[in-house]
Amino acid sequence: MNNTVSKLLLGKKREPQALSAESFAPANIALCKYWGKRDSALNLPLTSSLSISLGEKGANTRISVLDSAESDVVILNQERLAEESSFVKKLSAYLDLFRDVSDRFFQVETTSNIPVAAGLASSACGFAALIKALDKLYAWELDQKALSILARLGSGSACRSLWNGFVEWDRGQCMDGLDSHGYPLEVQWPELRIGLLIFEPLPKKISSRMAMEHTVQTSPFYKIWPIVVEEDLLKLKRAIKAHDFETFGSVAEANALKMHALMMTAKTPIVYGSPKTLEAQHRIWDCRHQGLAVYFTQDAGPNLKLLFLAKDLDTVKQGFPELEVIAPFGESA
Ligand code: DP6
Repeated sequence: MNNTVSKLLLGKKREPQALSAESFAPANIALCKYWGKRDSALNLPLTSSLSISLGEKGANTRISVLDSAESDVVILNQERLAEESSFVKKLSAYLDLFRDVSDRFFQVETTSNIPVAAGLASSACGFAALIKALDKLYAWELDQKALSILARLGSGSACRSLWNGFVEWDRGQCMDGLDSHGYPLEVQWPELRIGLLIFEPLPKKISSRMAMEHTVQTSPFYKIWPIVVEEDLLKLKRAIKAHDFETFGSVAEANALKMHALMMTAKTPIVYGSPKTLEAQHRIWDCRHQGLAVYFTQDAGPNLKLLFLAKDLDTVKQGFPELEVIAPFGESA
């Protein structure tokens, strides 16, 4: 058990209190990106970040205690993953944080209701749903902040998937990471829409974990990233509070482009975009020239997430008929 876990679980039950437990967590999309760590074992970031959760879109995870198994069993969308796959190894290492050597193995069954190819399906919301399910299984009754810290140990961005709506991940200062967690912004924006524009079903060539480390180590521009993020975060939070969509969209889009620019200047460069990404970006910029307020963000993959308002749904859909549209605050607008 590592230090963070033992501090948070001090005095809590060490044996499962049920045979299985289940929980849901929403996927989240960063509007101001987390890209770079100050501690890779604890997933402590170099900067704060800000995301929007996707409401009912996310992962449902059931964890069950296995009676006589030699290893953990991981099932993703009804398909059992190979024991030697990197995802299963990552998940087992995470579960090791919570079990003593003598403890039994688990079956972790995750169903996601967002397209796997969106690059959102298994990681952040999966770890957030898993820690919530573990909390139920062991009857720890931890608060959201503690769950966010523990989810972060699985995958950094998972710490933002504990809440709906806008979530800021405060980078924190402490070495043990107990002050590095998400918290929700008390702002609703029912008219906001997110569109998943998926044109590449291919898995990532290089994981975000490896890519961010490589960028921090080799991009000559990385040193200005923390300054950029601080400015973008402030602007974004102001725009969210004022429901100023143009500023919101343009700052989020520029932040994503700056993250990808950093990667392009790494040695050797990392390029997640494909020709289709560039083509879609040009289509979005053309729409904007014609007066349509639509923006994009892009994570560690070629697909794009579009940002727009409910009133423009039909027009955006005309330009992008393949779009899967999500209302992060519900369909009320
Ligand atoms: C581009 O949270 O997947 O989506 O902490 O190494 O698991 P690890 O990385 P991860 O990185 C997410 C990167 C991003 C930006 C973001 O979500 O803020």
